Amino acid sequence: MTKDLDYRVGDSRELLKTIPDSSIRLAITSPPYNIGKPYGKYKDNIPLNEWEELLNDVSKEVCRVLTPDGSFFLNLGQVPTSKTNEILPLQYIGYQILKDNGLFLRNIITWTFNNMQNCVNRLSGRYENILWFVKDLNNYIFNLNEIRVPYISKNDKRLKDGTGRNPTDVWYFDRVNNMTKQMLKLSHPTVYPLPMIIRIIKMSTHPGDIILDPFAGSGTSLIAAKIMGRRGIGFDLDEKYQKEFKQRLLIEGNISASVFDELLEDSEKKKRIKREYERVISQAILKGVI
Ligand SMILES: C[S@@+](CC[C@H](N)C(=O)[O-])C[C@H]1O[C@@H](n2cnc3c(N)ncnc32)[C@H](O)[C@@H]1O
Repeated sequence: MTKDLDYRVGDSRELLKTIPDSSIRLAITSPPYNIGKPYGKYKDNIPLNEWEELLNDVSKEVCRVLTPDGSFFLNLGQVPTSKTNEILPLQYIGYQILKDNGLFLRNIITWTFNNMQNCVNRLSGRYENILWFVKDLNNYIFNLNEIRVPYISKNDKRLKDGTGRNPTDVWYFDRVNNMTKQMLKLSHPTVYPLPMIIRIIKMSTHPGDIILDPFAGSGTSLIAAKIMGRRGIGFDLDEKYQKEFKQRLLIEGNISASVFDELLEDSEKKKRIKREYERVISQAILKGVI
């Protein structure tokens, strides 16, 4: 790898072949969900067997390039199918594909959020899953101390230690809303929440490690890698998303890692992140970046 952040345009099934064996500590990705999202070059409405084939081909390569102590975080949700609207749990299909490729499940993280549309003929969906797989159940990175969160009770005696509790397998992170996307001039329809990816990077890598996102989109995983002092490789079919990533790098690439301190109370964390966004955006405006 010649540069710290390497975002390439093309089909990840081909581009993955250029990555050496056992060189990636963490792969983190959200593939298209096959629900007709407007992804530009990629047609997000293919027969299910082709979608499974895509995920299988990519996962096979991801397994090859992961270090022996590496992790693969795969984000998938349950989606209405186009013909009947029956709900299809993609996470169950994804689980089987990764398992068949020799990985082991460590946790099923439930990512919950509130900002999503309401349904009228079924319960409104408010979660997706992130499947945490490892290559070796006896040898993987889990930096629990980096991701401890405040104790629930403010009177908890352990608070005196300055430590916190395990964040559990249920995580709340707001989805990126349209206002934020407009502010950052992003057209990508499904941008990951940056703080969530920062948590995964802190939890499963060391500084300097390489993080891979084979369906990189607007490049959130690479931006998070930059902020946390890691390196990143990302692929996407559409060159417009590479441009958006480059633009994001000039703005969000300057965010300080300290604002993602997990031991802060949620309201304080939100306040600091908001202030930091205001700072990097006004800096970008002064520099004529946006
Ligand atoms: C769910 S989005 C990823 C969004 C990303 N997590 C972010 O924060 O912006 C999935 C992306 O996969 C891309 N894609 C689909 N098939 C691909 C392929 N074979 N190779 C590379 N990228 C692909 C689409 O263009 C789309 O941008």
